[in-house]
Amino acid sequence: MAAGADTGFSTRQVHAGSATAQASPRATPIYLTAGFTFSDLDESAAHFGEGTGFGYSRTGNPTVHAVEERLASLEGGDQAVLVSSGQAAVTVALLALAGAGDHVVVSEHIYEGTRGLLLDNLARLGVETTFVDTDDLDAWRAAITPRTRALFAETLSNARNDVLDVAAVAAIGAEHGIPLVVDSTFTTPYLLRPIEHGAAVVVHSASKFLAGQGAVLGGVIVDDGRFDAAASGHRFPHLVQTDRLGGASYAEKYGARARGQYIRESVAPRFGPSPSPLNAFLIGQGIETLSLRVERQSQNALAVARWLGQRPEVERVDYIGLDSHPHHDLGERYLTRGFGSVFTVTLRGGLEAARHVVQSVEVITHMTHLGDVRSLVLHPQSTSHAARTVEERERAGVFPGTIRLSIGIEDIDDLLADLDQALVGVPVLERETVVL
Ligand SMILES: Cc1ncc(COP(=O)(O)O)c(C=O)c1O
Repeated sequence: MAAGADTGFSTRQVHAGSATAQASPRATPIYLTAGFTFSDLDESAAHFGEGTGFGYSRTGNPTVHAVEERLASLEGGDQAVLVSSGQAAVTVALLALAGAGDHVVVSEHIYEGTRGLLLDNLARLGVETTFVDTDDLDAWRAAITPRTRALFAETLSNARNDVLDVAAVAAIGAEHGIPLVVDSTFTTPYLLRPIEHGAAVVVHSASKFLAGQGAVLGGVIVDDGRFDAAASGHRFPHLVQTDRLGGASYAEKYGARARGQYIRESVAPRFGPSPSPLNAFLIGQGIETLSLRVERQSQNALAVARWLGQRPEVERVDYIGLDSHPHHDLGERYLTRGFGSVFTVTLRGGLEAARHVVQSVEVITHMTHLGDVRSLVLHPQSTSHAARTVEERERAGVFPGTIRLSIGIEDIDDLLADLDQALVGVPVLERETVVL
C-alpha cells in the first residue's frame, strides 16, 4: 500500500486505511464508490470490451446489482436495471424501443408524468402516441401501425382503478412482434407478475411500494429475456443490425436477452439516470418486507373502501376490490393476493367537501406520494390531474369532489376514526342534489 509512514500527510489522508477489510456482511454492503480498481490491464480491457466485472458505478455497482437480481427474481424476469426514479424507468424503457418517426400505443389511464413525457418530450423527439381506453381491445388492435414499437399501460391505474387485461393486450402486440410494456407500480410483483401473462417489459416507480417508506426515489426496468429476432427484428433494427463499427448485433451477441442488454449497456448508462448505491440499498431493504406491507395495505384498503361506500357523504368509491367496480372480475383473475392500497373516493359535496377532508385528516397525511407505510391523501383534480380537460378528468374518474387515498399499514380502527372525524361537517346530500 502506498501510504506507509514514510509518505506525506496529503498522501496518507487519501490512501491510509483504504485497504478493504475481509469480512462477510449479512446485509448487502453499500458500495458507495464512483468506481472500482482494476488489478491489471487485461482486466480493464475485458471490462471495457466484454463488460465483465465492475468498473464505474454508472455502468454497474454491486449494491445496485444485488437489488436488480432480487427484482428480476420477484418479477420472474430475465434481468432488471435499476435507475434513479420511476420516471427514468419509463423513459429508458420507451427510448430502448422507439425513436424518431416511431409510434407507441398507450392506455389513456396513466400517470400524468408519463402522459406528459409522451405528449411533450417524446413528441418533440419524433415519437408519436395514440391513446386508447385500457379495456377496449379493438382500439389497441386498430391503433397499431407499421411504425408501432410498443404498447404501454399501467397494470392498475390511477384514478379509476382500471385493470389491464395483460394477457389479452400482450397477445395483440405479439401478433405484430410488438412488446407490451407495463408500469406495475400499483400492483408490485407481490400482487401481479405481468411477465407470466405475456408482458415483455415491466417498469416500476421503486419510490413507492418497493422502497415502501417514502425516503428515496428509484425505478426499475425488468426485461423478460424473450426477444425474438425473427418475429420482431424488423421493428427493432438497432437490436439486429451490426453495431457502429460493423461488429456483432445485440441479437447476435445476446440472443433472446438482446433487448435487456441494450437497456443495460446502451440506454440506461448513456442517458445516465444512475441510482445512488445508498438509495439502492434502501430499496433492497424495503423489498425485504414487501409482501407483509402490501398484504396489510390491501386488507386495510378493502376495509376503508367498504366503510366509505356505506357513508352518506360518499357518491362513489373506485376500488377494484369492491364487487361494484366494473373491472372487479378481471381484478380477481389477476390479483389473487389482494387489490392494492390506492383508490379514489368521490364526495357528494364536491370541491368544498374534498377540501374539508384533506385539510381535516390527522392520521392520514395530505401529500403527493403513494405506496407508503403511512396512509396518504391527495385531491387529484387540483394536483395530479390538473393538466387534463374536464372531459379527460371525468373519463379518468376525477371530479371536483374526488380524493385519492393510498392506504398504509396503520391500525384499521385509527384510519376509520380519522376519516370519521374528517367527514364531520361534510354535507350529506341526496343523490339528486349531488355536486361532484
Ligand atoms: C404509476 C406511476 N409510474 C411512474 C411514476 C413516476 O415515479 P417516480 O416518482 O419514482 O419518478 C409514478 C409516480 O407517482 C407513478 O405513480
